[in-house]
Amino acid sequence: MRLIIRNDYGAASQWLAEYIIARINNFQKEQPEKPFVLGLPTGSSPLGIYERLIAARARGRVSFAKVVTFNMDEYVGLGPDHPQSYHAFMEDNLFRHLDIDRNNTHILNGASPDPAKECADYEARIAAFGGIELFLSGMGRDGHIAFNEPGSSLSSRTRIKTLTEDTRSANARFFGGDRDKVPPQALTVGVGTVMDAREVAVLVSGRDKARSLKAAVEGGVSHLCTLSCLQMHPKALIVCDEDAAYELKVGTVKYFKGLDP
Ligand code: GLP
Repeated sequence: MRLIIRNDYGAASQWLAEYIIARINNFQKEQPEKPFVLGLPTGSSPLGIYERLIAARARGRVSFAKVVTFNMDEYVGLGPDHPQSYHAFMEDNLFRHLDIDRNNTHILNGASPDPAKECADYEARIAAFGGIELFLSGMGRDGHIAFNEPGSSLSSRTRIKTLTEDTRSANARFFGGDRDKVPPQALTVGVGTVMDAREVAVLVSGRDKARSLKAAVEGGVSHLCTLSCLQMHPKALIVCDEDAAYELKVGTVKYFKGLDP
């Protein structure tokens, strides 16, 4: 695992946005016939990255014409047209500002009449594209990745999950501050689905994430903090700000800062 620590959220977002741009451009130079398959999250964490990707695309520094995306998750019961759906979030915050072909964007349908089939089909679609090249992610306050809440199997695949009260409270800000309006369940890629990506890159920001980041980086691999699965991944990258790094040992911070070019 690689850990990059930057002063604040803006600097962390800048670092990771530039990293993604370089990955896409290098991939397209080396394998121009292949699409770059990018996994994407929602939430506050990726917004600074999305703004920078949009700006880079506007300046012609990167193109998404040959990028295929798969989002991590979606609320059960919210169809693509629902304003709080992750479909709407992605459209507003990223897709409509890019040169991306909508046929190349994939998001689970939370309103599917057959959620189990929806999840199995999603896994099959990822496999049909040859797997995910780079899975971008955030981390929930309790250390979850995608909607893999504490106790999720570390080999789980895309499926339906019941959300914890903590997660519903954290996400209430997207529903007018009313936790009861946050759907109690979601469809989400599994920990195993994320682990299959050839690379995983995570943005973690803020003091409220510091204890879980410590568990993920310095604790053992545990289903109680599903981001800790990255300790088993051959190419995992976490980019955080100083606030999120607050609970890490001085020695851990010095070690990773020493490796930072
Ligand atoms: C939700 C999403 C996760 C996201 C997490 C953190 O639970 N399913 O993918 O990483 O929220 O959100 P935020 O970035 O807003 O703190």
